[in-house]
Amino acid sequence: MDRRRNPFVPGAGLQPPELVGRGRLIENAAIDMDRVLAGRPARGLVLLGLRGVGKTVLLNRLRALADDKGFRTVRIEAPEGSSLPELLTPELRRILYALDLRRAAGRRLQRAASVLVNFARAFRVSAGDLELSVDLAPGEGDTGNLEQDLPRLLVAMAEAAADRHTAVGLFIDEVQYLSSVELAAVIVACHEIAQRNLPFLFIGAGLPQVAALAGKAKSYAERLLDYPQVGSLEHSDARLALVKPARAEGVAFDDAAVDEILAAAQNFPYFIQEWGYQVWNAAPASPVTRGMVLDASPEVVTHLDNNFFRVRFDRLTPLEQKYLRAMAELGPGPCATGRIAETLGVRTASVATVRQRLVNKGMVWSQRHGETAFTVPMFDAFMKRQMPELVRHVPQARRTENSGGLQ
Ligand SMILES: Nc1ncnc2c1ncn2[C@@H]1O[C@H](COP(=O)(O)OP(=O)(O)OP(=O)(O)O)[C@@H](O)[C@H]1O
Ligand SMILES: [Mg+2]
Repeated sequence: MDRRRNPFVPGAGLQPPELVGRGRLIENAAIDMDRVLAGRPARGLVLLGLRGVGKTVLLNRLRALADDKGFRTVRIEAPEGSSLPELLTPELRRILYALDLRRAAGRRLQRAASVLVNFARAFRVSAGDLELSVDLAPGEGDTGNLEQDLPRLLVAMAEAAADRHTAVGLFIDEVQYLSSVELAAVIVACHEIAQRNLPFLFIGAGLPQVAALAGKAKSYAERLLDYPQVGSLEHSDARLALVKPARAEGVAFDDAAVDEILAAAQNFPYFIQEWGYQVWNAAPASPVTRGMVLDASPEVVTHLDNNFFRVRFDRLTPLEQKYLRAMAELGPGPCATGRIAETLGVRTASVATVRQRLVNKGMVWSQRHGETAFTVPMFDAFMKRQMPELVRHVPQARRTENSGGLQ
């Protein structure tokens, strides 16, 4: 069918034609935002879910909602290996200008600007022209200890926002890539702001392990933040995600075609978009039948393998790949960590560092102690396609392993 009119949008963070199944979550967040704007306390949230469930599009949707409601918002994505002050400083500077720093800046706004300059200097980041235009207040946000300085800075920003009768919204994607110090600093900041009842809301998104990481960073994080789960879609919503955008373009999917696609996609948003997109392009005409889906199927799987799964696979060392292949042998669900080692033919301790690297890379996580699960849906089946043979692991000298000799 006409590719120009294909409504499906497989990709990271691309707003789907129909954002289904998230109404309750959006409504709850909207209520939190209204409370904050009305000067009432609200807990921050961190959206948790596997790869491709729609955390980023939801985070962006919530940010747009906050903007519409009059929040001043900052959105950053924590990339692996970059620093939080570097990402935050230019964004907070933008907010200060948006709060109308130039026009008759109030005392609190001036103070926020000077704390930001101090903060930027302490973390060796540029605050641009702000450095020239503020009177510095030494001793505020300039210790170089992020857990002290970030709360100071965000408190000052929220106070400035309160003066301007607005609120600050901090949106952070990929929270699992924050370092433990950065995550602790964000949590302490939320805690201090909550105690002062200032107009501020933190909304994060990340892989499911973030809840445990936050608890580890600060034990009170569990009570300070909510962790709504973002998962695969209810069957009726998944159906809607496929059928409604097509219908808007005058295209129908037979029920059997829909069932076939949803079974393959296991109701996961990203896979629905990808199947919808590829089947649309391959199908000769409307209505789309089950036969057309089956005809397109091998190509869709190849496409997914060469793109979505492959980019993740290519970031792994051979040893990490072997580890995941052993996991795949045990099926799609969480498995006992000890069984993975057993499958590889080694003791658990000898592959503990490999496992930890896979956690750090966001490939696996553990819901319960002693368990390991994939963060990418259907990665087990991909691993079996990619590496049909299960290879047992023969550990070499420890020194070689740590220096990457096995990689
Ligand atoms: N509720 C939804 N309904 C339909 N499609 C959706 C929905 N949520 C997300 N999608 C689609 O799923 C795909 C993945 O979305 P997104 O990038 O937000 O996922 P993610 O959870 O952030 O993934 P990752 O963990 O890899 O960053 C996109 O193509 C998006 O359009
Ligand atoms: Mg994302």
